[in-house]
Amino acid sequence: MKGNDVVRIATVVLGLLGGSHAVASSQPWTDPRLSPDERAGQLVAQLTLDEKFGLIRSSFAQPDAAKGRAMPPGALGSAGFVPGVPRLGIPALQESDAGLGVANPGQVRPGDGATALPSSLAAAASWNPALAFRGGAMIGGEASSKGFNLLLAGGINLLREPRGGRNFEYAGEDPLLAGRIVGETIRGIQSRHVLSTIKHYAVNDQETARNSISVKIGERAMRESDLLAFELAIERGRPGAVMCAYNRINGTYACEHDGLLNGILKGDWAYPGFVMSDWGAVHSASTAANAGLDQQSAGEVFDDQLYFDAPLRKALTDGQFSQARLDDMVRRILRSMFAAGLFDHPPVRAPVDRQASLAVAREVLEEGAVLLRNERELLPLDRQLHSMAVIGAHADKGVPAGGGSSLVWPYGGNAVPGLEPAAWPGPVVYHPSSPLQAISKMAAHAQVNYASGDDIAAAAALAAKSEVAVVFVQQWAAESVDAADLNLPGRQDALVEAVVRANPRTVVVLETNGAVAMPWLERVGAVLQAWYPGSAGGEAIARLLFGEVNPSGRLPLSWPRELAQLPRPQLEGASQPAGSPLPTTVDYDIEGADVGYRWYQRQHLQPLFPFGYGLSYTRFEHGTPTARVVDGQPRVSVRVRNTGQRAGADVVQVYVAVPGSQVRRLAGFVRVMLAPGEARKVDVELEPRLLSDFDIAHRRWVRRGGSYEIYVGRSATDLSAPLKLQLPPREGGADAG
Ligand code: BGC
Repeated sequence: MKGNDVVRIATVVLGLLGGSHAVASSQPWTDPRLSPDERAGQLVAQLTLDEKFGLIRSSFAQPDAAKGRAMPPGALGSAGFVPGVPRLGIPALQESDAGLGVANPGQVRPGDGATALPSSLAAAASWNPALAFRGGAMIGGEASSKGFNLLLAGGINLLREPRGGRNFEYAGEDPLLAGRIVGETIRGIQSRHVLSTIKHYAVNDQETARNSISVKIGERAMRESDLLAFELAIERGRPGAVMCAYNRINGTYACEHDGLLNGILKGDWAYPGFVMSDWGAVHSASTAANAGLDQQSAGEVFDDQLYFDAPLRKALTDGQFSQARLDDMVRRILRSMFAAGLFDHPPVRAPVDRQASLAVAREVLEEGAVLLRNERELLPLDRQLHSMAVIGAHADKGVPAGGGSSLVWPYGGNAVPGLEPAAWPGPVVYHPSSPLQAISKMAAHAQVNYASGDDIAAAAALAAKSEVAVVFVQQWAAESVDAADLNLPGRQDALVEAVVRANPRTVVVLETNGAVAMPWLERVGAVLQAWYPGSAGGEAIARLLFGEVNPSGRLPLSWPRELAQLPRPQLEGASQPAGSPLPTTVDYDIEGADVGYRWYQRQHLQPLFPFGYGLSYTRFEHGTPTARVVDGQPRVSVRVRNTGQRAGADVVQVYVAVPGSQVRRLAGFVRVMLAPGEARKVDVELEPRLLSDFDIAHRRWVRRGGSYEIYVGRSATDLSAPLKLQLPPREGGADAG
């Protein structure tokens, strides 16, 4: 029995005996009626110095036989472990990665599978914060029933680099969309009394040279882009911890960046939680602690020193680090543990309701897959088809997952074992959700044949004798490496070309990290972006292809036509031979806050597909939008009608150009589900900070006032005529508008 269980049982027993006051007075922090701040404050006062030092660092929760390192006693096994303080009822922190589902790195918990959501880009593409919440709640629920109480989740780095190896863990290029989606995911996780991080703070948008590279960016640009995403998500999700990143920002490591940690996060945003480091992101003791880092993660394995032990104790003795700051670090950690419910609702080991979890994973892909092309209504497929060819990407076995710390080990194991790389950031894993099986079930009257695609001529021959060919193509991406370019690996382009030559009724399903080059695009009939499809991917893809559900995803990223369109056409380091010097700086001042679609507008470039784009099996008509000011805040209304034959969801996107700027920013959105023929008036509230500029001198958002141009769109480029709205200037803090 763990210490906290003893306290809880004692509390209950004494309560029954009418003695709760006795407990309340000796351990008043057990009283859930007190605020997390009060409870944490009382507890800090009880802790010895050693106990405090025990709480400000975690250990790596994995054994290493080669180095003679045992699993830390009491750890369940995953990414991190902080022992509790049983005498005071402080529970241990059992930390697991969980961006898409509960991870099981290296199968440290043999055979312990979990449900994987599709890529976070799919959640973002749903433009449905309520669905993101349910995804988070699913992960939090599975984590809790496995005994974990802290999840390393909430990835929100903005997609500035389409080759970025972790894009699938993040929520796209726009701060408002990413902030809302990730904020709700975190809120969902924490609704299950599991503490969540948000990560990686900040501007850790590429993998190449991530441990050393310095991001050059002006403060205003950072506030209006990457930091705005964090600000919005933190407000919405209230994550218990912020994970600081590997990289440097304007020369200073993220985990010892006083301006970012003390200044912005804890100062301007009044963030009450704690800052934990990424694994291997700490480079100093008192410098980091004084700059705002509260907890060093797995330093004994990943950093060159256990900075938050002996070196920090020495700094305390030498006067370079104060007792008050140590108490603040501990108080923040305990406060977040109380706020997330770790004391009052400890994890209860229980079997997972896998069907319920799978249903959530399926819905996220059903709402987040993006139909990019559909010529002559090739899709949805007819369930009465007589013959079909399913080709490529191991679609007979399952669907691919991205690699690295977010990898979820599937229930039932890897559907395609033995692929390279087997070692970090591998293994390459396929979730055992076979598109072929799901398609065969859906097309009950059809002869459905599979070709692996290894033999291109055989695949084309199969396509030629089938009514329809569905080609799956994949691109594996992983933490710690960026892609060299946007090309599909291997001979997949040649495969698609050959298949579509054999049968123009070819559908391509993309299972990729994000945007890829599609040299065959104009020739194929349809393209569906299914991201990394997650544990129920096969079924969701089949239901989308056959119109059991209507695709409604909208791109959370701009799809470049070619790399030359990017602010940095060359990603230094990615394609260089091993051993070449790594880049030391990446210049984000080129695009500044104009990330993604805003860059394309500014440069007058046409992407292949714009941000916000996605097709449907039905059609939507927008009426003439109107705008009015309610309590000083603009609100936009538009009537949306489903003019087609099928139910479907539209996403009303409102973009605003502030006075003096040509660049339109997404300022609000609403996803709306409509039956055939149904019309509804949709009201969209605009986020005040998107109508403002960040004034760095006064550290606040300022709405300059003047004539604002408001556009209602189906994407960043498919827009209504502008509405002009006159707004007075307004100044203030986070809610300036
Ligand atoms: C990643 C983090 C992750 C941590 C623990 C790091 O490599 O950057 O996102 O939470 O490992 O596994």
